[in-house]
Amino acid sequence: MIIGSVTEDINIEKRVAITPEILKKYKSLDLEVYLSKNYANHLGIKDDEYKSQGATIAESNDEVISKSSALLQMNILNDENLSKLKNDQILVGVLNPYKNENKLKNITSKNIKFFSLELLPRITRAQSMDILSSQANLAGYKAVVDSFAYFQKAIPMMMTAAGTISAAKVLVVGAGVAGLQAIATAKRMGAIVFATDVRLASKEQVESLGGKFLIVEGSENLETEGGYAKEADEGFKKKQEQLLKETLKKIDIVICTALIPGKKAPLIIKKDMIDVMQSGSVIYDLAASQGGNAELTKVDEIVDNNGVKIMGEANILNKLPVSASNLYAKNMFNFISNLYDKEKKSFEFNLEDEIIEKTMVK
Ligand code: NAI
Repeated sequence: MIIGSVTEDINIEKRVAITPEILKKYKSLDLEVYLSKNYANHLGIKDDEYKSQGATIAESNDEVISKSSALLQMNILNDENLSKLKNDQILVGVLNPYKNENKLKNITSKNIKFFSLELLPRITRAQSMDILSSQANLAGYKAVVDSFAYFQKAIPMMMTAAGTISAAKVLVVGAGVAGLQAIATAKRMGAIVFATDVRLASKEQVESLGGKFLIVEGSENLETEGGYAKEADEGFKKKQEQLLKETLKKIDIVICTALIPGKKAPLIIKKDMIDVMQSGSVIYDLAASQGGNAELTKVDEIVDNNGVKIMGEANILNKLPVSASNLYAKNMFNFISNLYDKEKKSFEFNLEDEIIEKTMVK
């Protein structure tokens, strides 16, 4: 059986779903891999590297699409390629089915199975497939590195003959996967780190990384059974605002990572809070493409509010696409190996398997 992957628009997406090192693993499942020409050339990975690991480089995207039983992508295919899918083919990727509802509806007449990896359940068995974690972890790291590079002062405390430089103070808003990596990275570089979250379980995790947890006094634990955040009520928001406004006066760099699944990102850092920050401070808003945690965030722009710089990008993972692709390709392989039955040589859609049931887009 053949699986394949086609080139995406590299101006929007630099990550790829199949890396040379993962090809051996597909081979072990007896799956042949077809790829478009120059598939990962932009990452410095030549077609010959894929060929030497057993992949077939096709003449065109059309050839990959027509030969493959399953297409493994980062994002949903563009309209042209989507219309070329045939009955019984499978498309796996981060398909964003809510945003792409109409695109997907247009081809429901064909019997095509779609699997969207951001819908994976957060269960132990799915950890090795968890693209949200693998990508958020890198995003948290990169947000710190980029904002530190942009910040015009040194990060660690330095005692020199000429005098002492004090350590930079960082606030991480949202202590999930990205936030915890941001805390760890900022600590490693010598910053003093504060963090806050609506889930009280994160307090211990923040503290174990050496961060100081800022607790909204008198608030309940806003955590769902699945471990995600619940939307905060007005009372909580007011208290959180007061706490953060006071804290922000002494903070140099803010890393925003707060999200609520299926909703617009919560607005946490309002303009009047940014107004109290010192000139030269930086806010890196990782939630930018979901609406932003900071009121002044503009996607792919650096906004200047009285010397405070607010930055956030549509896709920060495009800035470390090689590492992001390596992890994504492994997540993808683990998902495919759960879906593919090597003995029967077919994909099996066992809806009693929570991983398959939750990711299948109906
Ligand atoms: P996420 O990306 O949905 O949100 C990021 C963080 O923002 C969360 O910690 C959330 O509580 C926080 N947040 C939301 N609204 C906020 C607000 N108004 N103020 C402050 N913070 C706010 O979350 P992520 O990183 O995907 O993690 C969600 C949960 O899933 C966590 O409990 C994590 O430990 C768990 N998880 C479990 C895994 C597993 O396999 N068992 C794997 C990865 C994560």
